[in-house]
Amino acid sequence: MTEARVGSMRPTPSRHLSIRLARRDDVDEVAAIEKRAFSDPWSANSFRALFGNPLVHFAIAEDAVTANVLGYVVAWFVVDEAEIANLAVSDDARRAGIGARLLDHAVAAAKQRTARMVYLEVRESNAAARALYASRGFALAGRRAKYYRKPVEDALVFVRI
Ligand SMILES: CC(C)(COP(=O)(O)OP(=O)(O)OC[C@H]1O[C@@H](n2cnc3c(N)ncnc32)[C@H](O)[C@@H]1OP(=O)(O)O)[C@@H](O)C(=O)NCCC(=O)NCCS
Repeated sequence: MTEARVGSMRPTPSRHLSIRLARRDDVDEVAAIEKRAFSDPWSANSFRALFGNPLVHFAIAEDAVTANVLGYVVAWFVVDEAEIANLAVSDDARRAGIGARLLDHAVAAAKQRTARMVYLEVRESNAAARALYASRGFALAGRRAKYYRKPVEDALVFVRI
């Protein structure tokens, strides 16, 4: 993650935030957030490939006043399980509750599809995400050795039932 700052991105208060399904014209903003958030980011084409897949839930948090994309979540569903495959908030909009709202939204979508459990992987060193998941009722369930690249690192698996 870089220390880049975009001055105009600071969110308006959370009552002006809306969570909605992503559209194709959101992808450039989503990919820009992704690039700043991760050392091994998904490409814009990876996000575009999600559209039309009935097993995918791809939602964004939008500033309802400026229409800026402030964050996004991607979940996918397999039989009775859901996986949070991606989640990020613009680096200038963090600690305003947006990540928690996106996560709650994805968990609600999973429940609607009658998923029995929701799981996700996180880099062991990612203290912010681990704190977020713990605060939303996810429990540590396991470890996948050397799961990530750039840099190679173990993943911790969190589950919410
Ligand atoms: C992880 C991430 C999505 C959190 O988004 P966010 O909008 O800043 O999180 P929220 O404001 O909703 O935080 C909710 C709670 O999570 C915890 N938390 C979030 N960021 C934290 C941090 N940097 N340090 C400690 N706790 C943190 C806190 O308990 C926080 O509640 P509080 O602000 O009342 O203390 C964001 O930091 C991010 O995009 N990081 C880069 C991408 C990433 O790591 N994604 C997850 C991959 S598994």
